[in-house]
Amino acid sequence: MKIKVGVIFGGASVEHEVSIISALQAIKNMDESKYQIIPIYVDKKGVWRTGEVLKDINIYKDLDELNRFSTKCILIRNDNKFYLQTTGLIKRYKYELDIAFPIVHGTNMEDGKLQGYLETIGIPYVGSDVTSSAIGQDKVMQKALYKSINLPVCDYIWFYDFDYNQDSLEYLKKCEKLGYPLIVKPANLGSSVGIKVVNNEVELREAIKDAYSYDKKILVEKVVSNLKEVNISVLGNYKSQELSLIEEVNNTNHMLTYEDKYINGNKSKGLSSSKRKIPADINNKLKTKVEEIARNAFKALGNSGVVRIDFLIDSKSNEVLINEINTCPGSLSFYLWEPSNKKYSDLLDELIKIGIRNYQEKIKKINSFDSNILSDFNGTKGVKGTKF
Ligand SMILES: Nc1ncnc2c1ncn2[C@@H]1O[C@H](COP(=O)(O)OP(=O)(O)O)[C@@H](O)[C@H]1O
Ligand SMILES: [Mg+2]
Repeated sequence: MKIKVGVIFGGASVEHEVSIISALQAIKNMDESKYQIIPIYVDKKGVWRTGEVLKDINIYKDLDELNRFSTKCILIRNDNKFYLQTTGLIKRYKYELDIAFPIVHGTNMEDGKLQGYLETIGIPYVGSDVTSSAIGQDKVMQKALYKSINLPVCDYIWFYDFDYNQDSLEYLKKCEKLGYPLIVKPANLGSSVGIKVVNNEVELREAIKDAYSYDKKILVEKVVSNLKEVNISVLGNYKSQELSLIEEVNNTNHMLTYEDKYINGNKSKGLSSSKRKIPADINNKLKTKVEEIARNAFKALGNSGVVRIDFLIDSKSNEVLINEINTCPGSLSFYLWEPSNKKYSDLLDELIKIGIRNYQEKIKKINSFDSNILSDFNGTKGVKGTKF
């Protein structure tokens, strides 16, 4: 019997469209002899939709058509089974699911919120769990975690927009202490949105203001000079990790912008087409360092499935710094696995297997007790009178 896989994508995220591309790429590469693939598209308002038509990229060009030919649904649990239930006056189960496969990028979807819903109803799912997704999305939390296990990160400070507004001079001083050029980032976005390199106080003020139109938490980092950017993908869970080849990303500008990542490239190939060199042109010592840091970061966050970890290297001093993790990377990083003979369909098989294994392990752990402590509870009067 085929495994029924619900691929969830879209959502209220600045990376909405990128998620559609990633998900449809994956759907195309999933082995239909093994899986019944059910697309679940979350629109920008958070409405869930399903239907075969959602497997076709062209439907996303015309949202009225999309609404007409797809079906609104919610994901529910009933008697230990999982269903996509229609939402109209007459509710019916449109599809049953065995496992959910989020292929999502950015806030509200990749950051643990969606995973929290999946955990709450108890459906098995592919990819990182709530905590590792949440930390992975927050650049500030991530850096703090890396520092705590002595992984190298660049010099930085962070602050809330509220505190900055109370005493901007104090924070500007702290930023300047790091030394220009600086790079200003909202803590919780992705795809280079809201990120700017600045060279003086005027630019710094402007970039901070811009960043806090996206997020209340702002990160200011020292720019790494002689920059070489390399990325590596990690596949597995806390027990075992497989490492991909390392890619080198050739940035056209000082940094990879949203346009570099998703627009300048050849659209038909989606995210995998921006300028990159695989394997990266780095010596063995640097390669081993990147691999070691990647493995440690993956384990420390408690990731699962496939991630991409991005590094900044100062090519003069050979200093290697971990920049960030992408817990559900663009195109699921399939292009980093293909050169080592892992086809995209094999990668997807492994991801689903890991998701099932995680679930089997989770349900073995005790997380509730059979005894019902509320059985003797007799209303709020009882509570007031209870001494703890
Ligand atoms: N400290 C830094 N020094 C130099 N360049 C940086 C630094 N941090 C980020 N960049 C550049 O900005 C890009 C986007 O930053 P990143 O932190 O990866 O944000 P995003 O989540 O948007 O990808 C990076 O790919 C890199 O080109
Ligand atoms: Mg990045």
